[in-house]
Parts: sequence; structure tokens; C-alpha cells
Amino acid sequence: MFLQKLTYIAERYYKWKFQSNSGLWNEIQDYQQKTKSTGAKYATLFYLYKFITKTRPKSITECGTGLSTVVICHAIESIKKEEPSYNPRFVSLESEQFYWKHAVDLLPGKYKNYVDIKLASLVEDNYGMYRGVRYDCKPIPPCDFVFVDGPDYKVDKGGFSFCFDLISCILSSETPVNAVIDTRVSTVYVLQKLLGQRIVKYNPVTRVGTVKGATMRNLKEISEPPSRHFNYDFWGNLHLKIK
Ligand SMILES: C[S@@+](CC[C@H](N)C(=O)[O-])C[C@H]1O[C@@H](n2cnc3c(N)ncnc32)[C@H](O)[C@@H]1O
Repeated sequence: MFLQKLTYIAERYYKWKFQSNSGLWNEIQDYQQKTKSTGAKYATLFYLYKFITKTRPKSITECGTGLSTVVICHAIESIKKEEPSYNPRFVSLESEQFYWKHAVDLLPGKYKNYVDIKLASLVEDNYGMYRGVRYDCKPIPPCDFVFVDGPDYKVDKGGFSFCFDLISCILSSETPVNAVIDTRVSTVYVLQKLLGQRIVKYNPVTRVGTVKGATMRNLKEISEPPSRHFNYDFWGNLHLKIK
């Protein structure tokens, strides 16, 4: 209850922060009036905007198109004012035809060349014992920054899993990958198990997850037979071994 109140206050605070950037705030309001999609939280959008303007990624993948696509485009535009040659590859992935078309139609004209909004179906994938859902996108867009706000991670045989795309991205990237994750706690949980809490953090007040500098070498090795990947302590607790 207390935490919920803090989350509410944090949302008000980040909304106020956006309001102080009138250009971006006007675009957000304009989009919110037209959209039928559930947008990411203000706290998430703020982290996203700050993260991109600070780290200036070369290649961005967004999982779950919508208002956040406009915020990312605005971040790119603001970097371009200082560094006109900044031209990141930006792919936004959407699994539902309705929301894909909606997002393509609502994207402000000035951002049409900034982002490739792709419609992709969903598939299940696994890394060791962890089974998740990802966009079926080939080739996997190269990326050093991922925004995770999709896909739907219900699995075919029932139950839920986690959003897998960040793992695919880390496995196919030669450079460290950063990410912002909107609320998806099962995704943060699995990533903390695989990459450790130093790289993957979750803020319980803002409910935003962040991943900083993850590489293939940071991913714990999990293959057959599973038993060799675990340590046992005196009390019988099992721990995934750090590679
Ligand atoms: C949380 S939404 C993504 C929101 C997006 N990042 C934004 O900021 O607007 C995750 C996915 O849910 C689906 N979705 C969006 N709005 C929805 C709604 N109102 N009802 C059901 N599904 C929705 C879309 O497929 C979307 O990619």
C-alpha cells in the first residue's frame, strides 16, 4: 500500500518533469489524445529518454510499439541537434496487426525516416531452462539498446513466461547491450538470474528495470546436463553458478 502510494507520487513527479520539456510534452499529449494503445508509464518514458540522450546508442530495438516510439524519436531528434551525423538504426517491433497499423498511422510525419515499425509474429524460445516469448524477426536487429515493453508473454500451453528478445539481442551482439524494461517483473527476475543483480536492476517505486552493459560473456552458461550448473549450500539451497 505504502509502495503503491510512492509509485503514484513518482508517476506524478515524472509527468511534471515531462511538462517542463514543452516540445516533447506537446507530442506526448497529441499522441495520447489519438492512441488506443496502453502507453508505458511516465517513469519508464523518462528513464528511456534520459538513457538514450545520455548513451547515444547506435542501434535501438523497441519491443512493443506506441507512445514510447515517439519519445525515442524525440530523443534521437534532440541528439541530432548537437550531433547532426547521429543516425541510429531504430527498429520497433509489434505483434498485433491492429496496433502496428495504428502506430504507423499515428507516427508524426517528421519521424517516418527515424524508425522502421515492423509487424512480427510471436514464437517461444528458450535459454537453458528458461522459456520465454519473442518476436519472430529475422535477422535479429543488431542493437546496443533495447526497450522492453512487449510482447505478451503468455505461452501456448498455458501460464506465463517472460519477454525473451533481450536475450536474443545479447547473444547476437558483439558490443555491450543496455536496456530499459517497463514493469515486466518476470522478465527482470529471469534476467537477474542469468546476468546478476549488478547488471540488472529493478526499482520497486518506479517499477522500471534497467540493464547496463550486458554481454554474451555475462550470461550464465546453461546447457545439458543441468546439474553441473548448480551449486548447493549447506542448507540445501540451490544457486546457479556464475560462469
Ligand atoms: C504495453 S503495450 C506497449 C506500449 C508502448 N510501448 C507504448 O508506450 O505505448 C504492449 C503491447 O500490448 C498490446 N497492446 C497495446 N495496447 C493495448 C490495449 N489497450 N489492449 C490490449 N493490448 C494492447 C500491443 O501489442 C503492445 O505492443
